[in-house]
Amino acid sequence: MTKQSSNTVWHHATVTRGRRELQNGHKAAILWFTGLSGAGKSTLAHAVEERLHQIGCRTFVLDGDNVRHGLCGDLGFTDQDRQENIRRIAEVAKLMLESGTITLTAFISPFKSERNLARKLVPHGDFIEIYCRCDLATCEQRDVKGLYKKARQGEIEHFTGISSPYEVPDNPELSIDTGRYSLDECTDQVMVLLKERGIAKND
Ligand code: ADX
Repeated sequence: MTKQSSNTVWHHATVTRGRRELQNGHKAAILWFTGLSGAGKSTLAHAVEERLHQIGCRTFVLDGDNVRHGLCGDLGFTDQDRQENIRRIAEVAKLMLESGTITLTAFISPFKSERNLARKLVPHGDFIEIYCRCDLATCEQRDVKGLYKKARQGEIEHFTGISSPYEVPDNPELSIDTGRYSLDECTDQVMVLLKERGIAKND
């Protein structure tokens, strides 16, 4: 992105992230779920959000399909558009982090470079990459939205895993076998990590 807005001056808030976190009673973080379409990113993100909400945490889920109805509705699925999609989401997630919210993002985010850019936007330790590991055959078999079938028939181009790449994370904070474990078990794994890191409140 070329920056066009040059004559702008950053305004510092007196209500800081630290004060918001103190008021909320928990730390903020970005939980970045990545994986193939149908790997269970959104389902898991929402299940984790539900648990966090129940123990009094402030949360918000940014979901690929939803965001593409509005903020990113002008973007398609070429490499370039996906890069812009993730750049915008990373910036939104950064703002939400400042607001003291535990922000969960559920995007395929297929490229290591964009995930790393998102990571580098925020302080070390605030970005938690969660790889939803589920092989293509399983995702395709589930085909919850019927998109794999269409992609195989050539009705959708640049489809992740079929005609567009997915780069598996090298070093995610958490790698969850969503193809193998139940939703409850996967949710438990995320909650354990959040408690270990002192992010989620203890219930
Ligand atoms: S990303 O690659 O830019 O991160 P994002 O997560 O926003 O993708 O959107 C993925 C969702 O868009 C999928 O879950 C699926 O429902 C839908 N979709 C439509 N076309 C495609 C495509 N060509 N490749 C992948 N997903 C697609």
